[in-house]
Amino acid sequence: MVHADAGRSLPVPNVQALAQTYNGGSSDEQIPERYIRVEEAAEEVIGGRDISSAIPIIDLNKLLDPLSSKEERAKLGSACKQWGFFQLINHGISDEVIHNFRNDMAEFFKQPLEAKKIYSQIPGNLEGYGQHFVVSENQKLDWADMFFLILRPTDSRDTRFWPSHPPSFRNSIDRYSSETAKLASCLLKFLAMDMGAEPESLLEIFRGQPQNTRMTYYPPCRQADKVVGLSPHTDATSLTLLLQANGVQGLQIRKDGKWVAVNSLDGAFIVNVGDILEILSNGRYKSVEHRAVVHPTKERMSAAVFHQPCQDYATVGPLPELVKKDGEALYGSVSYVDFIKGYFAAKLDGRSYLESLKS
Ligand code: OGA
Ligand code: NI
Repeated sequence: MVHADAGRSLPVPNVQALAQTYNGGSSDEQIPERYIRVEEAAEEVIGGRDISSAIPIIDLNKLLDPLSSKEERAKLGSACKQWGFFQLINHGISDEVIHNFRNDMAEFFKQPLEAKKIYSQIPGNLEGYGQHFVVSENQKLDWADMFFLILRPTDSRDTRFWPSHPPSFRNSIDRYSSETAKLASCLLKFLAMDMGAEPESLLEIFRGQPQNTRMTYYPPCRQADKVVGLSPHTDATSLTLLLQANGVQGLQIRKDGKWVAVNSLDGAFIVNVGDILEILSNGRYKSVEHRAVVHPTKERMSAAVFHQPCQDYATVGPLPELVKKDGEALYGSVSYVDFIKGYFAAKLDGRSYLESLKS
């Protein structure tokens, strides 16, 4: 599980409330300086509708069908090697489970600030409603609020942070969590096969399906071209399943040095390789830098579920059977506790933390 006390984010203003004031104010009013990031926001972006830049689409039905499995698995492997990202269709999670979860999440964020504040992060702790990765008083800030929960193993849930409104939210989170955890295990099994590792050796590391979620609310911003929704980063996990929750696009990934806008398919999951899986795979798969931008008039919501190694996974390093095959380990070994602490102690800065772990 992720160690909730590893997070040390400094308290900063609520962005949804700030956006309400600012978007409704007079047009010559400036947004606070700490959110203005003109240069970053202006970096070149390639449109996601261009087919040559669209991330691969993987079909879970085809992976499961013995007639097409081998071919689809090769596609899956190549997506993780070349893109670190893919969209998953026919994933088998019912529309109802997804619909209930996204509706309840939207209801939650829609509440007045006072109601959400009940679930505020406690200083020094990662869980709850607030922000992540704010490590200094003069760092630039992201145009988003987030709500982070530890989901699995189920006995690690801290129910203080589980909302009682909307009343169905706890149940819809629970169902969403169990379905996505199953899906992640299924994908990890196929990935182990693709890497040439024993599926059991990979699944053992993720025993109990440790999982947490970051639900993110990106308010609209009248000057959307001056702010960044979520700073460039990689995910400190094995696999992330991202649901773009209300049909507003905004995710961008770094490909060959340029930003590529991801055009998320309705009903699909955007899946990406995290740092832990890049390391376990001894560099076969890539944990790719990504960020989110915001819309000038529309709010955007997303929910990422992260799949973590189990609590007694002591040392982060490449799978021994792959090191043997490759003749060398491309990453040094670091204790999992130190890995997570290091990740949350730094401000988000692309792949720099992961690169520092290379041997
Ligand atoms: C994340 C993330 C992207 C998005 O939460 O780690 O990358 O589109 N989110 O919200
Ligand atoms: Ni991410």
